[in-house]
Amino acid sequence: MSELELYRLPSSMTPLLPAANTTLRALAAELLLHSSKLSSAFNPYTRSAIVKLVEPMNSYYSNLIEGHNTHPLEIEKALKKNYSTEPKKKLLQLESRAHVLVNHKMKEKLLEVKDPYNWEFISWLHKEFYVHMPEEYKIVETKTGNKLNVIPGEMRKTEVEVGHHIGPAAESLNAFLNFFEEGYAPNKIPDPIDRIIAVAASHHRLAWIHPFLDGNGRVVRLFTEAIAITEKIDGDGLWSVSRGLAIKNKDYYSALHNADQKRWNDHGGHGNLSEKFLVEFCIFFLETAIDQTKFMISLFEPDKVLARIKEFVEIMVIRGELEKESRYVLEEAILKGRLIRGDMQRITGKSENIARRIMNDLIDKELLVSESDELRSAVRINFPIRYAPYIFPKLFPKDIEATMMD
Ligand SMILES: Nc1ncnc2c1ncn2[C@@H]1O[C@H](COP(=O)(O)OP(=O)(O)OP(=O)(O)O)[C@@H](O)[C@H]1O
Ligand SMILES: [Mg+2]
Repeated sequence: MSELELYRLPSSMTPLLPAANTTLRALAAELLLHSSKLSSAFNPYTRSAIVKLVEPMNSYYSNLIEGHNTHPLEIEKALKKNYSTEPKKKLLQLESRAHVLVNHKMKEKLLEVKDPYNWEFISWLHKEFYVHMPEEYKIVETKTGNKLNVIPGEMRKTEVEVGHHIGPAAESLNAFLNFFEEGYAPNKIPDPIDRIIAVAASHHRLAWIHPFLDGNGRVVRLFTEAIAITEKIDGDGLWSVSRGLAIKNKDYYSALHNADQKRWNDHGGHGNLSEKFLVEFCIFFLETAIDQTKFMISLFEPDKVLARIKEFVEIMVIRGELEKESRYVLEEAILKGRLIRGDMQRITGKSENIARRIMNDLIDKELLVSESDELRSAVRINFPIRYAPYIFPKLFPKDIEATMMD
């Protein structure tokens, strides 16, 4: 595409939403149903402990799509500011930490954001992510060998290419982003099911605009997560679309690529871009999301979680790392979310001293954490990343999990 042929008119990204479609509506309704099941899993304390595990997992997969494979144990260390002495590993750790922090902060930010389709919010995501990004990852090399700096939160000033797609002209980005915000505004799409379909469609359209010099993929996925929260399909943070997109990375890229295509003929829809491929993208996205919610629902079946806790404690006992009565403490902690320290004797059936030691071992292993510095009488359940393969298997890829269990 030559300079003159760049997209300059926002109407060139129409349609923003596919026309009424029963398949899409059924998928959106199914996603709503599954995600609301997740919102009622366990109790609020256990749920927030799981969210603390899902956030780094989400980050793991979103960076993996970018080709950055950071070992989950390295992410766990990075969150404690414990960095590798190997420079390359440290860069990945800093990047993961930046991603986890913005992912978390985004949820607080949403309490004050009225419309996440607004550019201010999207650029905030990029800014919060990139200000903490190592300098080495803020440099982009163009095809002609020029080095450009990625400025946190700033729109690109040069043209970009992603796959076979060339994003709209840099000087027209404002117009495209305004059109994007207005087109997906609640008064334009008032129906809640259509708004869920818009979560899928807007994912492609924002990636298609490609507003930043780099970091678009991860910011678009964070943005999609934010929209999922406002449309109440995020299962209170208990599932991650990036896990699904990373597992089906090839299909994700080809669905994005197809949806970039212009409409072929008058039967191809009502806008400039192909509606048929936008529908296919939305189907791909919603099916991926549904798969992820179903996976998480099955992972959180209480009986199965308790059976895994039993096995986990057995392994830890053999290793000499926990006492066998820890099992009852963990079971009750998961089912209730928080325990009073004074309850340990009753739960373990042991003397005060032994019960305290059992609890302290669990605190050392970070399976229990003190509620707060003031409220030291209560402890809450916690799920360190390193034990995820035992307690919540398959969150990470199989080969990676194998290296976490040594
Ligand atoms: N054909 C396409 N059309 C639109 N968007 C695309 C296409 N192919 C890929 N993308 C999106 O662009 C992202 C890559 O853009 P960019 O390198 O700016 O983002 P990143 O965050 O640095 O990397 P990554 O997205 O791979 O994590 C992909 O992740 C994907 O979301
Ligand atoms: Mg990139």
